Amino acid sequence: MAGARLLIVGGGRMGGALAGGLISLSSKISDIAGTMAVVEPSERARSLLMARHPRLVVLDDVAAAAGASDVGKGSLDVVLAVKPKDTKAACVALAPFAPRRFLSIVAGVTTSLLEGWIGASVPVVRAMPNTPALVRSGISAIAPGRYASDSDLSWAESILGAVGEVVRVPEGMIDAVTGLSGSGPAYVFLLAQAMVDAGIAAGLSRDVSCNLAFHTINGAGRMLLELPDGPEKLRDDVTSPGGTTAAGLRVLELRSVRSAIVEAVLAARDRSAELGREPAPE
Ligand SMILES: NC(=O)c1ccc[n+]([C@@H]2O[C@H](COP(=O)([O-])OP(=O)(O)OC[C@H]3O[C@@H](n4cnc5c(N)ncnc54)[C@H](OP(=O)(O)O)[C@@H]3O)[C@@H](O)[C@H]2O)c1
Repeated sequence: MAGARLLIVGGGRMGGALAGGLISLSSKISDIAGTMAVVEPSERARSLLMARHPRLVVLDDVAAAAGASDVGKGSLDVVLAVKPKDTKAACVALAPFAPRRFLSIVAGVTTSLLEGWIGASVPVVRAMPNTPALVRSGISAIAPGRYASDSDLSWAESILGAVGEVVRVPEGMIDAVTGLSGSGPAYVFLLAQAMVDAGIAAGLSRDVSCNLAFHTINGAGRMLLELPDGPEKLRDDVTSPGGTTAAGLRVLELRSVRSAIVEAVLAARDRSAELGREPAPE
């Protein structure tokens, strides 16, 4: 792995998506992607990655990969994308190589825990991405640890920017981010399921119903992002007095759907905080 400067540790769904995103941007940011390797212990996941990205260097062991780097101690950038239970072991294996910068997307593991495991004064950035990263339409929030500078945050933005948008928040807000955008895709998938069921109940075929529901969600999302109007104005524009949309929205309001969504996000935020207070995962 001559010259590897960026190690993605964990080549599962999210690590693989990040590697893919960086490869696809490699012409623009060859500084990052040209010298990247992924460490992944699972043979199946390694084969999948290599089949998908033939140019990608995929290795099976953190110590071997970091040690094989010819850039020397203190020059290795690390992206950690393992499950919470594997986080401490991966950090301990990386610590002897004194990473230059460290970005973790692991849910529920704080920067102070990571700093303790990876070693003194390594700049750590913690991120909460979401699954639309798999189709490069994610949104991630990043928060700096104690030693992370503005340029470390910019580096983290350049990595996560390969799979979507990035916003900066203080670490205390990561649970709120988890409740909103981390868990958010599941809320939208639930809406999609309900819309498909409704279309079928109204007599449409499953295929047509899926097509209509999925494109409606995609199109509405694009309007929110691409038009200057906010959701209230967009909603008003499609709701004529006494019309069909007004009749539908009235039912949603009677059933307190808006309030249920607020409660869902707050419940997910609280659960994220609760999980973060549990003993450190090992
Ligand atoms: N998916 C999401 O929506 C989402 C959103 C935000 C944050 N996250 C966080 O992102 C992290 C990764 O999630 P994921 O969905 O990508 O999980 P995943 O598909 O299970 O990928 C994790 C990969 O890391 C490998 N691994 C375990 N120990 C390792 C080690 N010491 N060194 C290198 N690789 C190791 C695992 O291999 P084995 O299978 O052999 O153990 C697995 O292939 C999680 O911490 C999750 O909380 C996920």
